[in-house]
Amino acid sequence: MTTHHKYDALIIGSGAAGLSMALHLAQSARVAVLSKRELTSGSTWLAQGGIAAVLDDTDSTQAHIEDTMSAGGHLSHKDAVEFTVAHGRESIEWLIDQGVPFTQESDDYHLTKEGGHSHRRIIHSADATGKALQKTLIEQAQSNPNIDLFEHHIAVDLITRRKLGLAHNRCVGAYILNEQTGHVEVFQAPHVVLATGGASKAYLYTSNSDGATGDGIAMAWRAGCRVGNMEFNQFHPTCLYHPQAKSFLITEAVRGEGGKLILPNGKAFMHKFDKRGELASRDIVARAIDHEMKRLGCDCVFLDITHKPAEFIQSHFPTIYMRCLKLGIDITQEPIPVVPAAHYTCGGVVTDEKGRTDIPGLYAVGETSFTGLHGANRLASNSLLECLVYAKSASDDVVKSLMEPLDESIIPAWDESQVTNSDEDVIISHNWDEIRRFMWDYVGIVRTTKRLQRAKHRIDLLQLEISEYYSNYKISNDLLELRNLAVVADLIIRSAMLRQESRGLHYTLDHPSEGPEALDTILTPINFSWN
Ligand code: FAD
Ligand code: SIN
Repeated sequence: MTTHHKYDALIIGSGAAGLSMALHLAQSARVAVLSKRELTSGSTWLAQGGIAAVLDDTDSTQAHIEDTMSAGGHLSHKDAVEFTVAHGRESIEWLIDQGVPFTQESDDYHLTKEGGHSHRRIIHSADATGKALQKTLIEQAQSNPNIDLFEHHIAVDLITRRKLGLAHNRCVGAYILNEQTGHVEVFQAPHVVLATGGASKAYLYTSNSDGATGDGIAMAWRAGCRVGNMEFNQFHPTCLYHPQAKSFLITEAVRGEGGKLILPNGKAFMHKFDKRGELASRDIVARAIDHEMKRLGCDCVFLDITHKPAEFIQSHFPTIYMRCLKLGIDITQEPIPVVPAAHYTCGGVVTDEKGRTDIPGLYAVGETSFTGLHGANRLASNSLLECLVYAKSASDDVVKSLMEPLDESIIPAWDESQVTNSDEDVIISHNWDEIRRFMWDYVGIVRTTKRLQRAKHRIDLLQLEISEYYSNYKISNDLLELRNLAVVADLIIRSAMLRQESRGLHYTLDHPSEGPEALDTILTPINFSWN
């Protein structure tokens, strides 16, 4: 017997986007929140620098809007930028009301600076902002009687009326693999929210945790939603370079507080690339580091913050200080070895200002969405802000249209009768490694048409193999993630091939200049109509 759950809203993802949305909705609706691993999995927990918002009298919303547009290669949608920035202060006030302990200095909140920002406007909890935020929201959600939290529940695919052969398409739920039982359950809800985070795991080197496989983007695509600007995967300039430091970020706030990027010979180099030096936007800094590493054949560059007093470093960057110290690097005394790594998915599922996708009843919020805010390159610390602002506008929209779930007899149970247990799991790990390596080599910081064609050829073959494997064997978390990773890798490659110019994060040697018009890359699944 398949287990059926019924809720007013099903939220897939327990990061900043999913939890904020759940807490807003729980005032009027019964909500399920799923996480494919622990509740703390995902990027939110790892966020260091903070949240951008206009909170200081010397700053202005106009300046934040201009900084966002400029970092975004003038591809950001002006209306989305204005909407997000305008709701910055109230989003931070909501977090403070929930109990998030932001760092204070002299009776006021301390604001730090990051690349591309013309003012100090990043509110933070030392260098572990995401952890403070998520811990607080999890505690609030756990004590809310209208919210049920499910760990180790992995969304497999969305259920739509179209898939059920019914008229008036709408998302009505999702098939969910309960990892504890190994069975697929039905979660029914007339409102389903994808808050599944980004897809940076498509690259070999990334600041993200294991689950960043773009599941929401892949599920929405399979269900018939458009996706936008997938070619713009952001590379963070400074991840720790050390054999034991898998995926550890060195926050941009270190550069915001005066940290200098230097070559192995101790010479600074960023002034050669941009007059803002270390505080140029991320695309420029990551490309400059990549250029210098290739030019000199060195494994990393260095980030030096030793000009600051040791007490300042230890109190503002306690997590980074301790992590580096454990690896034998005292950042108060010596520079930090750093390299760029895939960090953030600027594109995603196309949504409007209310988080609505192309399918009625289906919302996408947070990193999984494409709202138009980030353009060709996200401004630092605008991501958590986007999660908060759109979680509120999407939940307002859901509350206005609460309705009864579909009769449960209409949704068929998951059919496992045609599949067996896999005896060749090596295919999963092999294909996983292969995708991430060729994405890094061919679809990375610097691209060419030929490299993209090579990548396309490989992803086509791999998708055939993965699809055959998926049809024949029982599903597991690893297989689901591989299947989704292959879909998003394909979407990234196809989008990159369509963009015949260099803009923001998409840099190709074959078209090194910006084109005359700033246009989005919108991919539409074939054979779908939205009715
Ligand atoms: P996430 O926080 O990534 O959460 C995704 C959730 O979806 C998880 O609960 C996961 O388990 C769940 N999920 C995924 N797939 C499935 C599935 N198939 N079934 C069920 N559940 C699923 N941004 C800033 O603005 N400021 C910062 O300082 C900052 N620092 C960062 C530092 C690091 C190291 C990283 C990696 C990112 C940073 N970012 C920062 C970016 C920002 O943290 C993320 O964009 C943001 O947290 C994304 O939140 P989210 O809620 O959309 O997704
Ligand atoms: C950082 O702290 O450098 C990350 C900030 C971000 O990704 O917005």
